[in-house]
Amino acid sequence: MDGNGRWAKKRMMPRAFGHKRGVEAVREITRAARGMGLEALTLYAFSSENWKRPADEIADLMGLLRTFIRNDLDEFVANNVRLRIIGEYQALAPDIVELIEDAMARTAHNTGTTLAIALNYGSQQEIARAAAKAAAKGAITPEAIEAELDTASLPPLDLLIRTSGEVRLSNFLLWQAAYAEMWFTDVLWPDFSPAHLQEALDQFGARERRFGGR
Ligand code: FPP
Repeated sequence: MDGNGRWAKKRMMPRAFGHKRGVEAVREITRAARGMGLEALTLYAFSSENWKRPADEIADLMGLLRTFIRNDLDEFVANNVRLRIIGEYQALAPDIVELIEDAMARTAHNTGTTLAIALNYGSQQEIARAAAKAAAKGAITPEAIEAELDTASLPPLDLLIRTSGEVRLSNFLLWQAAYAEMWFTDVLWPDFSPAHLQEALDQFGARERRFGGR
């Protein structure tokens, strides 16, 4: 969800303002994903590398996360949205861990769209953890690793969208992206609307996927 900082800067506002508008976009896109019947939507909210940011920005992001879960949980419950977290969220502040675990428990049996939020997430770390778990159980095969990934309860990744003109994966879903389609846009995350999501899906629908076959 790149571009919050640049979105705010263009308006001569602090980065926190951009992140706040970024949460509005999260809310709108989650509702749109549900309306479009998407099985799952995974959002990269905080990477394991984001700890390098200034402490006040990290505090702002954590504050937004708290408010988001507190305010939006009832809507998820009412609308059959299942919340999942990928990443090492247990390292976040204890009150956030509690909020997250309560929200996951309250939505665990929902069968509509799964909203997965990546928190303290790094794909290389995820793969290393999964490989270690697979090794502890037996042979390290692609299937055994896949079964131990944080995304094991999610459907295969079909489409990966990156906003704000960045054209790299930045340690997000590296394993899962093996056969995913990619869609890059210059739109900054706070401006990313359901119409943009629809555009990405339309283009995705027009692509031929061969998964290495022919
Ligand atoms: C990247 O933009 C964005 C982030 C590192 C944070 C994304 C977080 C949110 C949208 C809010 C919290 C999320 C939830 C689910 C409540 P950037 O800061 O790198 O912007 P820039 O690339 O323009 O500098």
